[in-house]
Amino acid sequence: MIRPILAHPDPRLRQPSLPVERFDDTLRELVNDMFDTMHHAEGIGLAAVQIGVHLRVAVMEVEDNPQRVMINPRFEPLGEPMDMVEGCLSVPGVQDRTKTRLDHVRVQALDLHGKPYSFEARGLEAACVQHECDHLDGKLYLDCLSHLRRHRVLQRYNRLRRQENSQQGS
Ligand code: NI
Repeated sequence: MIRPILAHPDPRLRQPSLPVERFDDTLRELVNDMFDTMHHAEGIGLAAVQIGVHLRVAVMEVEDNPQRVMINPRFEPLGEPMDMVEGCLSVPGVQDRTKTRLDHVRVQALDLHGKPYSFEARGLEAACVQHECDHLDGKLYLDCLSHLRRHRVLQRYNRLRRQENSQQGS
């Protein structure tokens, strides 16, 4: 089931998510809905908080890598910072360049059964892991930008939202 995605500046996006403790049908349904929602929005990653569920769950599907379900994820830095053009389904319509994402990380997470697993992510997938883990802590990629870039991207974003609102109103 496709669920609505919260958009910045919704304050719920800024609340940290809690660790998952129950690996039950409700969790499986949440993860299914997250994949449906991400596919529908043509995204490569989605955190549960983006559909208003404050649990540490993220899904990801980046390029040729397998579909990932990351529950209570953590990552260990292995690489160097890189330039990355990032966008977010919760900040629709704009993108900007971050410079702080590491190009290689090792991820440790639980699967849908609560079983620990790990994998290494590089490049875009590594950036996506860091982006989704930030969501679980109530952070957005906007927070990774310089003041000037953040100001400019938010101006573009607010202009887009005003245009959309005025079109809906007419
Ligand atoms: Ni995002």
